[in-house]
This record gives sequence, structure tokens and C-alpha cells, in this order.
Amino acid sequence: MSSQDHNKEFDGIRQGDNPIPPRWKLFFLISIVFAIGYAVYFHNFSDWKMEDRFAIEAKEHDAKFPKAKEVASTDGSNPLRGNADAIAQGKATFGGICAACHGPEAKGVIGPDLTDKVWIHGNTDSEVFALINAGIGPEKAKLKKGIMPPHNYLGSEKIYQVMAWLASNNPTLIQSKK
Ligand code: HEC
Repeated sequence: MSSQDHNKEFDGIRQGDNPIPPRWKLFFLISIVFAIGYAVYFHNFSDWKMEDRFAIEAKEHDAKFPKAKEVASTDGSNPLRGNADAIAQGKATFGGICAACHGPEAKGVIGPDLTDKVWIHGNTDSEVFALINAGIGPEKAKLKKGIMPPHNYLGSEKIYQVMAWLASNNPTLIQSKK
């Protein structure tokens, strides 16, 4: 018996050596032919392009999740101050993002009351903007109740909208120190 004999007997059981059914082999061959044909068609004749598909999906994504908009301020004061649209938008953003820590009416929870006269980190537009943008890390937190995360991902438009709403509720948030 050569070592090539696959039909060895093991413990009285003889292993069968049956060929693969011809229809399986035929299917295998057809698959190979199809794969070659498909690859040639796909790369040389089809107009489906990964770059195009990517561009379309990127566009759909941008439409669904608009990029943060930037609003420029020349002197650090809030350009959206007093703008009714911005105040409404700002209230909505505040409710979704800031209310968890500052309360829905900004009266304070973990974060301080933002409707009172006390501004531990400054009460001008530029100071408050910088604060919301960069957050308050453990080294800067004065109340020792916790930290505030940065909100720079919101973009300046959304931050100024929130500040417009805060200012509409709190006259002690001022444009700039005179
Ligand atoms: C994870 C909780 C948390 C979130 C979310 C949060 N804050 Fe705060 N915020 C705090 C804490 C805590 C402080 C006080 C830090 C300290 O001890 O100095 C603070 C302080 C502030 C201050 C300074 C108040 C002062 O008296 O000077 C402002 C303004 C402020 N937050 C605005 C916002 C706005 C606007 C948002 C939403 C975009 C927001 N915060 C989201 C926790 C948070």
C-alpha cells in the first residue's frame, strides 16, 4: 500500500474516495469564467466608479449632517445678539446640549445658573464665547463641581446663537467692557 492511498482503513472503517459530482465541477468552472468576465467588464466597460459613489454618499451625508457654520465677529462681541431667529435657535441648542448640566432654563444644575448676576469666568461676549468654545478643564474649574466639555464642534454660529438666547435672559451678559 503506498502512502498515497487515501482509502486507508481506520479501526475497521474504510474511508470512501468518491469524486466530486460533475455538476459541482461544472458550477466551479462557471464561477471562474463568470469571475473573469465580471472583473474585465467591471474594470474596463462599466461606468460604475468608486470615486463617484463616494462623492454621492459624501454629499448625502453633508445634507443630513450640515457642517458647523462660522460667523465672524470683528471685536469679539456676539454678532447675533438681539437677533430673534438666533435666539430661538440658541434656545433649542441649549436645550439639547447645555441643559443636561445647566438646566432647561439655564438656572443651574451641576453647571452654574447662567441667568443670575454672578459670572465666575467673566461676563463679556468674548470671554463667554471662549469659555463655551474651549470648555472648562479641571485646572480652570472654580466651583469644583465638575468640568465643562469643549463645544468647539458646534461652530461659532451655534455658540453665538446660544449666547444670544442667554443674553436675552440675562442683561448682565454684556457686549464688552466699556
Ligand atoms: C457636562 C456638564 C456641562 C455641559 C454639557 C455644559 N456646561 Fe457649562 N459649565 C459646567 C460647569 C461644571 C461649569 C462651572 C465650571 C467651574 O467650576 O468653573 C460651567 C460653566 C459655564 C459657564 C460659566 C459661568 C460663569 O459663571 O462664568 C458658561 C457661560 C457655560 N457653562 C455655558 C455653557 C453652555 C452655553 C453650554 C452648552 C453649549 C454648556 N455650558 C454646557 C458644566 C457644563
